Amino acid sequence: ARTVSRDADGVATVGGIKVTDLAEEFGTPAFFLDEEDFRARCRAWREAFGTEADVFYAGKAFLSRAVVRWLHEEGLNLDVCSEGELATALDAGMPAERIALHGNNKSTREITRAVEAGVGRIVLDSFQEIVRVARVAERLGRRQRVQIRVTVGVEAHTHEFIATAHEDQKFGLALAGGQAAEAVRRALKLDGLELIGIHSHIGSQIFDTSGFEVAAHRVVGLLKEIRDEHGVELPEIDLGGGLGIAYTSDDDPREPHEIAKALGDIVTRECAAAGLAVPRLSVEPGRAIAGPTAFTLYEIGTVKELPGLRTYVSVDGGMSDNIRTALYDAEYSVALVSRTSTAEPMLSRVVGKHCESGDIVVRDAFLPADLAPGDLLAVPATGAYCRSMASNYNHALRPPVVAVKDGAARVIVRRETEEDLFRLDVG
Ligand code: LLP
Repeated sequence: ARTVSRDADGVATVGGIKVTDLAEEFGTPAFFLDEEDFRARCRAWREAFGTEADVFYAGKAFLSRAVVRWLHEEGLNLDVCSEGELATALDAGMPAERIALHGNNKSTREITRAVEAGVGRIVLDSFQEIVRVARVAERLGRRQRVQIRVTVGVEAHTHEFIATAHEDQKFGLALAGGQAAEAVRRALKLDGLELIGIHSHIGSQIFDTSGFEVAAHRVVGLLKEIRDEHGVELPEIDLGGGLGIAYTSDDDPREPHEIAKALGDIVTRECAAAGLAVPRLSVEPGRAIAGPTAFTLYEIGTVKELPGLRTYVSVDGGMSDNIRTALYDAEYSVALVSRTSTAEPMLSRVVGKHCESGDIVVRDAFLPADLAPGDLLAVPATGAYCRSMASNYNHALRPPVVAVKDGAARVIVRRETEEDLFRLDVG
């Protein structure tokens, strides 16, 4: 969270509340999310892109009904990629026309629910889906606004991107080889579809704007081909999400206004060169909004020193509340927050309490040598893809998300209970 300072006893405070009080009231592990920071990031994206563009928050990063209301109030739209996310969005009052539905294998049921609700757009991801959405819309007497997701041949990695002739992954229809152009041809023929634009998402946790620029360039190229072949100018392009955040001090993320300027400039320039009207732009940041706004608070249970190796510090959560370290080799920082210490820093590994050795939260960290059971550790930047990817592995109870605002804390997602755990068992 934005403002972590220490009071006179060395206890870290968040929004004026001591972390020791937070732990006492809400238990550990728990996610604490700075609501004002979340809203400020929404506003920064809106302001960077202005009224000529739309910002769709990617709900997969972290979604709850409270979050949907904040997005609504801050003027953002919402990208959902499953029926569950769609249901949450609608239930919490997001107007359907501000929702975009994604996914590489949407079921007829999901599509029907989205079309019936009147979602603003469905992003088509395969030839089969073009027909599937058209049939549903025709049956319901609707014309569904759709975009076609294309793969532009830019493969984004952390800290870099590599241009490839064609991308070997499951999403979208390739520009190279003409699949994307063929998808446009088919979509334009179907009465149930109103093709409004082209969509591209190049990847996630990207620090460099050049990957987005290459994508924008290629998408505009397709718009030009479509105009030349069909005589229609599609009015929208969506360039997806993917802007990286700082997990450790080595990361140097771009700001929303930098990406807005880079994209705006290139789209405007290339459209002018092609004689196209500038389409309405949209983007789908998830991590860059939610990620930095929350931290996880853990309590230490055991400390095991392995002489000559490192110290293993076990906390009361782990891969069930943060799978990213195990899954992506993600890097996090960690700090002792319940007190200060002048003890020697020791090479440490913060691990969870799950029954496997890959259950690592922070692979390498220097933590004071006098760490002891009961000390509290905070892991920052866990607002995206941690609670949303949390599991019940080893029958762990998934932690709560507590929103802190104006010196007050309130639960927006409660901690699971044993009743929640038993609720699905039959017999
Ligand atoms: N739009 C589309 C179509 C996407 O597939 C994604 C993310 C986003 C937007 C949002 O991307 P963001 O701005 O959050 O990078 N679980 C992984 C990240 C998976 C991202 C999947 N798609 C992680 O924890 O790093």
